[in-house]
Amino acid sequence: MNSVAPERSAVVCTGNAHKVLELGDLLTEFTLEPLPLGTVLPPEIGTTFLDNARIKAHAGAAMYPDRWVVADDSGLIVDALDGAPGVHSARFAGDDATDDGNVRLLLRRLERFADAELRSARFACVLVMLSPDGVETHATGFVEGSIAHEPAGDGGFGYDPVFIPEGHDRSFAQLGSDVKAGMSHRARAARELQTRLLTPA
Ligand code: IMP
Repeated sequence: MNSVAPERSAVVCTGNAHKVLELGDLLTEFTLEPLPLGTVLPPEIGTTFLDNARIKAHAGAAMYPDRWVVADDSGLIVDALDGAPGVHSARFAGDDATDDGNVRLLLRRLERFADAELRSARFACVLVMLSPDGVETHATGFVEGSIAHEPAGDGGFGYDPVFIPEGHDRSFAQLGSDVKAGMSHRARAARELQTRLLTPA
């Protein structure tokens, strides 16, 4: 069984400050520590979210061999685009892509899909946690929704301004961090991960 260390602290293996903040609120059983500013993680060459989360987690474990480490790989899956941008979500518009550039490209690719049903999408998140002795626990979360016709709202990051979660008529960026934390792919993965880690086998 993966018994969690008494102090329950973990290093978060990401360069994305938004993810550190969100995970800090979601992984409530842990005190999270970000990687030092400027830490370079290996390229995400995996073909699945799990592969890429493992790449980041193992890079963190190599830097902090005596610590718990956790990594997130996540992205947007758009049905009309055969699952794109998927694992390439961060670099959809190119290696130096900004969130704005990615969103603009996404909206351009979806121009001919008028109705919300044709613009269906989901966010996926895989969290991988490694214990100091290298035991892996992972969990996946999804949130269903659709892609808006234009960006709205200034909360969140990435594709939040164009992602309308199912049952809502506003984007994640408009709904704000509390609503997002109640239903997001990251929240669902975090809940599952903590349940797996903290439930005795
Ligand atoms: P990676 O996991 O670092 O490869 O990057 C994931 C990318 O997916 C981010 O850069 C965003 O573009 C997108 N993404 C993942 N999660 C979210 C989210 O919660 N909101 C908006 N965009 C997200």
